[in-house]
Amino acid sequence: MIKILAVIVSISIFSIFTSTKNNIISSKNKLNTIQQTKKIDVPENIKAIIDKSCVSCHSTNGNMAKMHVNFDYIYNGKYKTEKLIKKLNSSAKSVEKGKMPTKRYITKNPDKAMSDAEKKAFINWAKTQADKLSK
Ligand code: HEC
Repeated sequence: MIKILAVIVSISIFSIFTSTKNNIISSKNKLNTIQQTKKIDVPENIKAIIDKSCVSCHSTNGNMAKMHVNFDYIYNGKYKTEKLIKKLNSSAKSVEKGKMPTKRYITKNPDKAMSDAEKKAFINWAKTQADKLSK
């Protein structure tokens, strides 16, 4: 009787041990995929909007604004996925709130302004890409 009990106890200890080990391994894998950089889709119409209204400041050739967002890094996968998600979401928010492109810049360069349709397309694209990357 004691022998049977001992076998049952050792089997359950063993199964608890292996299941925790598997959990640790699977959460490690998850972390790796989050940290890997994934490329995102940038359709031509969206790239045209960004080229017109954002890159003169937010690109490697731009001004100090590239410290906040650098669209070259968004295109070439230089941002780690987690950072990329944040940049996409903050970009969508900045356009949604009318903070970007800056009012001063638009007053000086009215041709760089985004139309309502362009704003909508950009916001939708940035949020969709961020959501996809979060999965
Ligand atoms: C005239 C230059 C200029 C243009 C054009 C411009 N930005 Fe900016 N942007 C800035 C500057 C300067 C800052 C940093 C200061 C600030 O937050 O106002 C900034 C900050 C940001 C931030 C960070 C804000 C935050 O919450 O931390 C985001 C996101 C952003 N811009 C997105 C965009 C997007 C998207 C576009 C195009 C639709 C754009 N910007 C166009 C100059 C520009």
